[in-house]
Amino acid sequence: MTGVRQIARDWILRYGHPKLISFLRAARRYLHLAYRIVIPTQRGGWPRIPAADHRVAAAIWFKFLTTDQYFGRLQFYQSFEPLGLAGQRPTEERARLYGFDTLIGPASRVLDVGSNMGCISLEAARRAREVIGIEINEDLLWIAEKLRKHVGVANVRFLRMSFDRFEDVERFDLILASAVRRWIGMPIDAFAVRIKSLLKPGGVLLFESNNYRDLAEEFEAEVQAIVGAGFEAVNSGTTHFDALRKFYALRRIT
Ligand SMILES: C[S@@+](CC[C@H](N)C(=O)[O-])C[C@H]1O[C@@H](n2cnc3c(N)ncnc32)[C@H](O)[C@@H]1O
Repeated sequence: MTGVRQIARDWILRYGHPKLISFLRAARRYLHLAYRIVIPTQRGGWPRIPAADHRVAAAIWFKFLTTDQYFGRLQFYQSFEPLGLAGQRPTEERARLYGFDTLIGPASRVLDVGSNMGCISLEAARRAREVIGIEINEDLLWIAEKLRKHVGVANVRFLRMSFDRFEDVERFDLILASAVRRWIGMPIDAFAVRIKSLLKPGGVLLFESNNYRDLAEEFEAEVQAIVGAGFEAVNSGTTHFDALRKFYALRRIT
């Protein structure tokens, strides 16, 4: 905090009426909220962003802030660049780091496990034939569906579903399981078997950790368990936005 701001703050806290102090605190909170809502939606500058985009962005922010959201905490977990929505983890940059252009082709079928607000699914859909995003949080699904409709993407379906109950008749070329394995709470061997049953032979699991600094040993052991179930690592890398995370592209070989 700068010197002048610090002096003003100390002065108000010392001599200000308690009601004035609580008013200023509330004002700061709401200004902060307005800043969070308005600025990200105005990247590019009014009126270059169409009013419809602003309306959708505001509705999404409203849903996000008025429901009990754990992921992202006052910030979206994922960004959505077409609407200028900032997030904890930038979607387009993640797609580049994961190698979506190599992993996904026009015939690809993609499953996004724990699709959150759907931004990674929608990004995958730009390259794929079909994408299914499964998510247990209905408010996040509402946001995902709102985004999908707004940008007019027809090859994505968002389903309210827990991963352990998901079945499909057609198998997938790519399964995205980013920062989600821990939340599913399935033993790793069962998880690997399930992933394998959903993937085509030669299909790829993109498997990403939660905070790698804390969980490196556990995550590497999980990767080894998946490899033991009939996969080989064809790529790996790290992302470093909110936390250091490691990911592997694991191809089904048996
Ligand atoms: C840390 S976020 C990761 C979101 C997304 N995979 C990404 O990397 O941007 C985990 C997400 O998985 C969802 N989730 C948790 N348990 C799940 C389950 N059993 N089945 C499907 N989704 C689940 C959560 O609601 C949350 O949106």
